[in-house]
Amino acid sequence: MDILLEWFGYLARWGHVLTAITWIGTSFYFNWLDLSDRKPEVKTLMPNVQGQLHEMHGGSYYYHERYWPTEPPKRLLNHSGPAQLTFLTGLLLIVYIYWLGADVYLLDPSGNSPSLWVSILLSALILFLPYPIYDQVCKRTDNNVVVLVFSAVLILVTGYLALQFFSPRAAFVHVGAMLGTIMALNVHFVIVPNHIKMHTQVRNGELADLAYHKQAKRRSQHNNYYTLPVLFSMLSAHFPLAYGNDYGFLTLFMVMGGGFLLRYARNRKFVTDKTDLGAGLLAILFLAGGIALTYIPATGEVQDMSAFTSDEEKAAFEIVQQRCAVCHSARPTMEGFASAPAGVRFDTVAQMTALKDRIYTQAIAIDIMPPGNLTEMTDDERSRLGQWLISIGAKNLDE
Ligand code: HEC
Repeated sequence: MDILLEWFGYLARWGHVLTAITWIGTSFYFNWLDLSDRKPEVKTLMPNVQGQLHEMHGGSYYYHERYWPTEPPKRLLNHSGPAQLTFLTGLLLIVYIYWLGADVYLLDPSGNSPSLWVSILLSALILFLPYPIYDQVCKRTDNNVVVLVFSAVLILVTGYLALQFFSPRAAFVHVGAMLGTIMALNVHFVIVPNHIKMHTQVRNGELADLAYHKQAKRRSQHNNYYTLPVLFSMLSAHFPLAYGNDYGFLTLFMVMGGGFLLRYARNRKFVTDKTDLGAGLLAILFLAGGIALTYIPATGEVQDMSAFTSDEEKAAFEIVQQRCAVCHSARPTMEGFASAPAGVRFDTVAQMTALKDRIYTQAIAIDIMPPGNLTEMTDDERSRLGQWLISIGAKNLDE
């Protein structure tokens, strides 16, 4: 059963990445197509042609017309499947990793999280509460600057709050999942229904109402701008330096802002055929700001050396300081480690206690920490650490 469960995790991740690259690929492509086509210069094949474009790929020439049909085409393809599948596989992963594995992955290892159920409820709220608010903002104003400001505040506030009550890694992933949910619900509640309404009109022999086109296009462009920010946060499991510093929410905000600006610069280029140096420079400034924040040493917590409750606890703490905390600390001393790997810190007994099961699993049960036994932990130390862990109720998470 365990093996099957692990495979379920692999396959869900595989499926999620696969559907996400397909979705993002089509989103990027059609966004590029729309912004790059130009008013027709030669005779067109279809009626009401808005834009025309020639391109080359894989040894072939291609020709596109963007048009409003007067009769339904025989074969019409649409691209909403990958968006829906990305959302479903993403939700599956959130439930599997962060809800079913909440005590390991969702809760803050320093013990700052609310109870398990409240944390899971908060996780669900982060995912599903913002869309109705965003949707209202979009319905009340046509001004995309307002949507941009709304998104920036949403990212800052959610990032800040999530870092208060979730593990830093979970917090970063949740901000991305929140934006990803807005993107998927845009497809589900606005873009696809508008396509259906337009196509019903065409099938009834009318011209499609361009108000539907405008709404769908607008949401599709918002999605395009959310893509780079979401991708950063989805990969953040690999970025302990970004989520582990004292200003994680600002780092996330700056990098996401940089991603948005990069996209903006690219989109301007498609429209004008000129490089928008201003937007490009601002993007670099945002990224540099995010990087600069990670140079500020993390403060972290310090153990009160007179507060040990037993000799065994003190001995366990000392072993972990010598063999683990060189890497797993707010300020690692091991060369090559700028931040605590996986965001796991053992600067205090409280942190060790909160992570007792994971220490037991990694260092006692399966014996893979320290990696390659780099810090030369002895068998005697391993068994003493193991005895203390068992005495405080640690269990093997691999069983
Ligand atoms: C040389 C640096 C180094 C040392 C020393 C080290 N670790 Fe790690 N540890 C890592 C790295 C790198 C990762 C991240 C692995 C990954 O992300 O897959 C990690 C990850 C972990 C994790 C998180 C894995 C999980 O998913 O639960 C735990 C727990 C852990 N280490 C415990 C320990 C313990 C306990 C010790 C001491 C006995 C120790 N480590 C010593 C580098 C180190």
